[in-house]
Amino acid sequence: MCGIIGYLGDQEATPILMESLKRLEYRGYDSAGVAVLEMPAAGKANHTSITKSEAKVDMLIEKLKANMPTGKLGIGHTRWATHGKPTYVNAHPHTDCHNRIFVVHNGIIENFAELKAELQAAGHEFTSDTDTEVVPHLIEANYKGDFLSAVRAALKRIRGAYALAMFSTDDPELLIGARLNAPLVVGLGDHEYYIASDITAIIPYTKRVLVLGEGEVVAVTPLGAQVSTLDGVSVQPKLIHVDWDLSQAQKGGYRHFMLKEIHESPEAVANAMRGRLTDDGIVTFREFDVPDEEMRRYREVLLLGMGTSLHAAMVGEYIIEDWAGIPAKAMDASEFRYRRPTFSEDGSLAVVLTQSGETADTLVGLHQAKQRGARTVAVTNVVASSAARDADGAIYLHSGPEIGVASTKTLLAHLISLYLLGLRMATVHGRVSLERRHELVESLRALPDHVEGIVARENEIAKIAKKYSRYRNFMYTGRGLGYAIALEGAIKLKEISYIHAEGVTGGELKHGPIAMLDENFPVIAVCTSSATKDKMVSNVHEIVARSAPVLALVTEGDHSLDGVATDVFVMPAVEEAAGAILNTVMLQLFAYHVAVELGQDVDQPRNLAKSVTVE
Ligand code: G6P
Repeated sequence: MCGIIGYLGDQEATPILMESLKRLEYRGYDSAGVAVLEMPAAGKANHTSITKSEAKVDMLIEKLKANMPTGKLGIGHTRWATHGKPTYVNAHPHTDCHNRIFVVHNGIIENFAELKAELQAAGHEFTSDTDTEVVPHLIEANYKGDFLSAVRAALKRIRGAYALAMFSTDDPELLIGARLNAPLVVGLGDHEYYIASDITAIIPYTKRVLVLGEGEVVAVTPLGAQVSTLDGVSVQPKLIHVDWDLSQAQKGGYRHFMLKEIHESPEAVANAMRGRLTDDGIVTFREFDVPDEEMRRYREVLLLGMGTSLHAAMVGEYIIEDWAGIPAKAMDASEFRYRRPTFSEDGSLAVVLTQSGETADTLVGLHQAKQRGARTVAVTNVVASSAARDADGAIYLHSGPEIGVASTKTLLAHLISLYLLGLRMATVHGRVSLERRHELVESLRALPDHVEGIVARENEIAKIAKKYSRYRNFMYTGRGLGYAIALEGAIKLKEISYIHAEGVTGGELKHGPIAMLDENFPVIAVCTSSATKDKMVSNVHEIVARSAPVLALVTEGDHSLDGVATDVFVMPAVEEAAGAILNTVMLQLFAYHVAVELGQDVDQPRNLAKSVTVE
């Protein structure tokens, strides 16, 4: 996700902003920019200089070196596009109509479209496609001479997620930060202060850091940092002393990016839903804004992906067929590209799942589907990616960059996107009652907390992983959604621990795979609540009869495998679709800890690439 930095102090701001932006590069970004309040010549009004690059931070640094703004107050940003392509005008900082208020932002403003329309009607002129630009305009609209009050009033109107750093040309000694559902820290130096989206940016300058709480605002002046709520109530912030080195800081203190990204899962799940789902279960996708009658015309859905994204496609296949009652088919894009499929004219939707938006086979699959008359939508994490550009519409994951080669948090965001799409299709086809929609909304909204609950059980999972790490072969089995999750569990283990693992349906076990099982061939069985749960329980009995150790994922309150399976991992009782997400997180952590136990290079496993851009 975007990285933000703000500085107020005794030193020149520009070199500090440049260095900090370099350190934020690891978060992944597509463009960058800074704003510095320049010291005016005597008698002249304050002036802010903005420098932006539609590409790398190095390009921004070159521009700054050629024309170095001087000043002790400034903000900087690396942008990971969410709304609007990565262009010069969309790069931050953004400003109001009078170039007085300057803002950098990380997050998503859910209600930006309605705020923008309201501000435009009041005469505000916008120059970018970003959601961020509503912030300076909204502050401007609320400005009556007191910058901090205007910020508070504006932020009360904003829904969604934000970490912000801001200043006003009228207040040369005031730097403001604020956060809601996005991280922000305040670094305390000697007569100088920093605001940053993570500790990485400021680690060389200070180890003393205030952690801002949800919905809090910090006003930094040469006299100190004052934290308060949006209602102006003072807050005593938490002061921490950081003793990480730079590489630890980039991983947020985690040992690997993969682990950090698994820990970011609750946020990824929340972000994939943000602003898309009403209380009544009405779904809107801003960049795939298809009218109901068109959505109703899609009588079949093809889902394409590779690797983990193919497993997401398989979950989508079950969900769309079940909820919307229309034929859905998941396909390996590398196979699809060489087939000669036929689509009913105007009536087919191809959903292309790709985290990076650059997987070669998936892109060719997208082109092939388009050529053959399907409407296409890319579900991707990268806004300006090839898939996003080439498809008719896009559903963005909004997960923030994923650096570990093995996909984790973005799979969850893919699944949420498919659930929302399934719900949308079910609604236009009149296949889902209002009551059922309420149930689904409730269960989706509770998911971030449930995911957090699984992540919090990491030590328990690590213990199980340690016990199983001595085996050289694994079978994963499940049915329905559980089958797709079994395949995903197996691929995770293969890719980061190099242990042989395969996924089979519970039904297929007896048609060959069971012959391999013995006391050295454990089976991970997905037996959580579903229509086929009892069948899975029978399968586990068959496996146990062949002496294979079984780790079963079961739903709380279900004791049918107590004393049967070697180990049971008890999951909360949730909707089946929500359960698929929780099972995924458990199996990701299991694979991670097996790989760590074996000392493997988790973030960059041998022979694999994050993005496979060749066939
Ligand atoms: C590679 C990665 C996988 C990923 C797959 C598809 O194989 O190692 O983690 O699932 O590519 O990537 P995509 O970016 O298209 O989702």
